[in-house]
Amino acid sequence: MADFKELPADAPTSEKVTVWFENRFPTAFDEYKKHLTEYYAPKNFNFWYFFGSLALLVLVIQIVTGIFLVMNYKPDAAMAFASVEYIMRDVPWGWLVRYMHSTGASAFFVVIYLHMFRGLMYGSYRKPRELVWIFGCLIFLCLMAEAFMGYLLPWGQMSYWGAQVIVNLFAAVPFIGPDLALLIRGDYVVSDATLNRFFAFHVIALPLVLIGLVVAHLLALHDVGSNNPDGIEIKAKKDANGKPLDGIPFHPYYTVHDLVGVGVFLMIFTAVIFFAPELGGYFLEYNNFIPADPLKTPAHIAPVWYFTPFYSMLRATTDVMVNVLAVLTGIGALLAIVRGGFGGKGKAAIAIGAIVAIALLKVFEAKFWGVVVMGGAVIILFFLPWLDRSPVKSIRYRPGWHKIVYGVFVLFFVVLGYLGIQPPSPTGELVAQIGTLVYFGFFLLMPWWTRLGEFKPVPDRVTFAAH
Ligand code: HEM
Repeated sequence: MADFKELPADAPTSEKVTVWFENRFPTAFDEYKKHLTEYYAPKNFNFWYFFGSLALLVLVIQIVTGIFLVMNYKPDAAMAFASVEYIMRDVPWGWLVRYMHSTGASAFFVVIYLHMFRGLMYGSYRKPRELVWIFGCLIFLCLMAEAFMGYLLPWGQMSYWGAQVIVNLFAAVPFIGPDLALLIRGDYVVSDATLNRFFAFHVIALPLVLIGLVVAHLLALHDVGSNNPDGIEIKAKKDANGKPLDGIPFHPYYTVHDLVGVGVFLMIFTAVIFFAPELGGYFLEYNNFIPADPLKTPAHIAPVWYFTPFYSMLRATTDVMVNVLAVLTGIGALLAIVRGGFGGKGKAAIAIGAIVAIALLKVFEAKFWGVVVMGGAVIILFFLPWLDRSPVKSIRYRPGWHKIVYGVFVLFFVVLGYLGIQPPSPTGELVAQIGTLVYFGFFLLMPWWTRLGEFKPVPDRVTFAAH
């Protein structure tokens, strides 16, 4: 009772109510200050900084619309497809809730890819924000699992066969593969048992993990403070009260600022929902309007667009590609031995490592390596903070040609995404193989290329023009 605040009897009622709560729940008020009114964010945020709060918005939209969908959805192989049609036709506003959820899934990935790209451009993953980035990567993995399992629930042809293809990939893992696939499916083929476990993961297990990770992501960010487009640490220059000179309180400044982003986002989001909810088959695939038929495989099975860059890399890993990887491993090891400046033991370790890697590449089938490449493409993101050795964080102060490297990387990522939607073709396969090499080359060669070139001087204070 010691710190109870007292107000004069004639104080305004609103103040009295606030103080009543503050006396009984001071933690809420302390946290509000710590994370909003006294969280100092750099004043030079640009539009790339909208996507974090937009990701939060989409997360809320998905959870709320998800709750309403569950009220009428039936996780039963005999009823699931019909229950979704029932939601679309008979449940009041059901069509809106369903389209918000299906469009929300794609919007989530649009927003997250842009959010991640912002991190890449401004070096937001560099010290001291490595954990913010790692929590982000875990969120990305969790989000992929969430979207994959959610896609099975409408029990359409694409739901069924997409799940069949992806779960079968796990069977390619040496030794434990077939048992692993059986464990995931709960049956020898995708069936009612699979639908039930995917439902459990999609509606409760993964959302809980996702929310926990988002909280950890934001707490870690608020401990170290936000980066900004200049890549300058604003905590290095503080005023007499210990407030960063280039910082402004998150609330009200950025809450109001972010509302602009929310407004623009909602215009695009609602335009899609009301005018093009299938978005030409990219957001809701046409084959998924046909009920799942375990006896009829569709001619062309493709995952939803946000998985296709990774799916392309999987398809690109053919026997020929495995040979190319073996040769590249050999060349890489040779270069490291000759030019890497390692001692005798280091050189021997590299040589042994390369021989083992090449042997393994040849021992296991290409399908397995495809799965490794696909998984590796996501896992490699975790190592970004240690791969990038550039002396400056932000792309603004890097050599001009670094921008071209980023451009080529993005271009190939988009091309891989496009090819993943198309039926396989020899040209497509070759381009996807080049794209896969560009993707991995971008990251694996980072310790080398990020140090090259003429860097521009980084200013002491952030660059900001009032507008
Ligand atoms: C549900 C998904 C996510 C949510 C809700 C979320 C939310 C946020 C928010 C609100 C911020 C602060 C505002 C901003 O800087 O934009 C932020 C910052 C950040 N996020 Fe995320 N995020 C998510 C996923 C990710 C992913 C997948 C990554 C990367 C793999 C990531 C990496 C980062 C980084 C590096 C920062 C610091 C940026 C800076 O200070 O420049 N986030 N996130």
